[in-house]
Amino acid sequence: MKAVVQYEYGSADVLDLVEIAKPDIGDDEVLVSVRAAGIHIGDWLVMNGLPYMIRAMGYGLRKPKNTVLGTEVAGRVEAVGTNVDQFQPGDDVFGWCTGAFAEYVAVSEDALATMPTNVTFEQAAAVPISGFTALQAARDKGELQAGHKVLVVGASGGVGTFTVQIAKSLGAEVSGVASTRNLEMVRSLGADHVIDYTQEDFTESEQRYDVIIDTAGNRSLSQLRRALTAEGTLVIVGGSGGRWLMGTGRSMGAALSSPFIGQTLRPFISSPNKPDLLALKQLVESSDVTPVIDRTYPLDKVPDAMGYLGDRHTQGKTVITV
Ligand SMILES: NC(=O)c1ccc[n+]([C@@H]2O[C@H](COP(=O)([O-])OP(=O)(O)OC[C@H]3O[C@@H](n4cnc5c(N)ncnc54)[C@H](OP(=O)(O)O)[C@@H]3O)[C@@H](O)[C@H]2O)c1
Repeated sequence: MKAVVQYEYGSADVLDLVEIAKPDIGDDEVLVSVRAAGIHIGDWLVMNGLPYMIRAMGYGLRKPKNTVLGTEVAGRVEAVGTNVDQFQPGDDVFGWCTGAFAEYVAVSEDALATMPTNVTFEQAAAVPISGFTALQAARDKGELQAGHKVLVVGASGGVGTFTVQIAKSLGAEVSGVASTRNLEMVRSLGADHVIDYTQEDFTESEQRYDVIIDTAGNRSLSQLRRALTAEGTLVIVGGSGGRWLMGTGRSMGAALSSPFIGQTLRPFISSPNKPDLLALKQLVESSDVTPVIDRTYPLDKVPDAMGYLGDRHTQGKTVITV
């Protein structure tokens, strides 16, 4: 089968489209014929081996342990392991995995769900990791309730476009921070208010929010706290700066200071799980959430897709079609 592989860390030119063996499946696994693979900034970071600390956290110190990237998949079941009872060949599925930038990928049956009936493979592949992040940030870490005023910083990105829609579905009053060209798109996702970060600094405004979900990562804790109510909650989704820690310093600062102040500052790392995959499927089927696709690239153009993603101006999600 064709797959995009990387044998060393680095920029997009470490990627090669090559022929490799189709993956074998274990007893609890499903062989998925990949139709589309979502791509997100996490793939770009792992390709680069950034932040450096991830190399010591199991990704491989000198070179990547997993040579095929891609963690979000939608496709058709080709074969199933002997213990698999939730799926059969021919089913259309989506979920999270390792190695989606390939014609086939082996996936645990617990990491898959049948595809939402109302979307394309490309839209389904855009959902899993960005969707988990948005859902868990809004529902679990932000503890959003109907009527809460929530600010989504980075509302036009892969995570932000899901966060705006999920926050609306939870009944919040949503404000989205984006640049001029993305304001209409963010409004069309249901945001009640939009703030153009090229014209206005929300941290200098009088407006206070019950919850801020920060996916852009370029403002300090003290700036963000200024825009929170006295008992408001900050959820730190994204970080930026420094090749060693990439913003994790800010998360550590939040965890250390939070117990001593009225506001709640929560660092956050999303965790994929089947109940949340099913929750996302339901949100998509009810049309509360519609994945926003920016660009699609064929498998042999994954390096171009990575280059685009690395520029950090994606409008929604970028997807690889296979
Ligand atoms: N904690 C977790 O488990 C977890 C999981 C997934 C992702 N993340 C992190 O979350 C962050 C966002 O990921 P993503 O996939 O959504 O990234 P992305 O798709 O690359 O999003 C970038 C978006 O941010 C916008 N943006 C850039 N600067 C901004 C600013 N100053 N204010 C507001 N918006 C700004 C960009 O819009 P313009 O083009 O208009 O600038 C673009 O639409 C990343 O740091 C990623 O590492 C964390």
